[in-house]
Amino acid sequence: MLFQLSEEQLMIQQAARDFAQSELKPGVIERDEHQKFPAEQVKKLGELGFLGMMVSEKFGGSGLDALSYVLVMEELSKIDASASVVVSVNNSLVCYGLEAYGSEFQKEKYLKPLASGQQIGAFCLSEPEAGSDATSQQTTAEDKGDYYLLNGTKNWITNGSTASTYLVIAQTHPALKHKGINAFIVEKGMEGFTIGPKENKMGIRGSDTHSLMFNDVKVPKENRIGEDGFGFKFAMKTLEGGRIGIAAQALGIAAGAYELALDYAKQRKSFGKPIAEHQAIAFKLADMATKIEAARLLVYKAAWLKDQGLPYTLAGSMAKLYASKVAMDVTVEAVQVHGGYGFVKEYHVERLMRDAKITQIYEGTSEIQQMVISREILR
Ligand code: CAA
Repeated sequence: MLFQLSEEQLMIQQAARDFAQSELKPGVIERDEHQKFPAEQVKKLGELGFLGMMVSEKFGGSGLDALSYVLVMEELSKIDASASVVVSVNNSLVCYGLEAYGSEFQKEKYLKPLASGQQIGAFCLSEPEAGSDATSQQTTAEDKGDYYLLNGTKNWITNGSTASTYLVIAQTHPALKHKGINAFIVEKGMEGFTIGPKENKMGIRGSDTHSLMFNDVKVPKENRIGEDGFGFKFAMKTLEGGRIGIAAQALGIAAGAYELALDYAKQRKSFGKPIAEHQAIAFKLADMATKIEAARLLVYKAAWLKDQGLPYTLAGSMAKLYASKVAMDVTVEAVQVHGGYGFVKEYHVERLMRDAKITQIYEGTSEIQQMVISREILR
């Protein structure tokens, strides 16, 4: 067992760390405060090849492995989870889905600009009444011969207004339940497609989350992904990889908060010595470091399994379940280590604590991960 990153992976990790410090850190508090999407930063992430990391070079991607991708997610998320979620959704849910299951036409037309970072994409599965229960899709796509007629509403869509390309899951044959579901590529600007107001969120406030409304949108037949009825499997397979990316985001949020708490504890003095020298604080730091390391091993292993072409459903859900819990635990403790300073925005840890919560909710709640894990181990 080799616990060592390659030279290339170390270089990519360093590039992401440098980018996070120089490009994401300045302005991160203001973007959170004013719910401002990191548009310039996302453009630069695209130029660096971070938006289509695992896509082959043939389709405009960087042709890298999943481990490199989680290293980048971890580093970006230490500083700005609102920016890293764009990287996660574009890579894992949109580009991966298109490269793995799209037609040549779809890859040429839609994947290339997404993988090269000229455009960003959105993944539209959740609905007002179909969050965890993803088989209960109410959005319909009626087969009209040359096109599908799309009607319905999607909720909590990341990159909702900033995306150009939307992968939309909808029901075509209700009697067939999940076997009647399809996935479609919908373009911004198609007639009947409207974007609702931005959600005012607790965390990842810089990210762009909206409801989307489809009212008699004509989607050309060639925009259906895969065979008729493949949509639910498409969503599940795509989400499996997405969960590794969100696990890496959670890991990064935890590691970012821990690094801040460690620095603070070494500098801040009370009762005549740095607070890190008080056992009450030193033990907290020890627990935080241990949990982060355990989460890191789960996340890297899940990515490694994916890179080997081995099954990673179980490992991905375990990584997400555990890393997101660690993100919550560690960020709460990081605020505690900072005392009163932790409660004010300038010290960053309160934002990381708010950002951590979404990692237990999106791309499958913790309870969904427990469901997937228990099914896998009981099979
Ligand atoms: N791979 C392939 N097929 C899968 C699969 C997988 N990982 N998981 C399920 N399936 C298949 C099953 O084999 C079954 O097919 P057959 O009938 O042909 O055997 C079919 O899908 C239905 O599966 P289940 O009976 O297991 O369905 P279920 O309703 O009991 O449970 C679930 C499925 C795992 C709970 C699923 O609904 C789920 O993952 N829900 C959570 C949804 C989610 O993660 N949403 C996130 C939204 S996206 C997001 O958050 C993005 C963002 O903005 C950041």
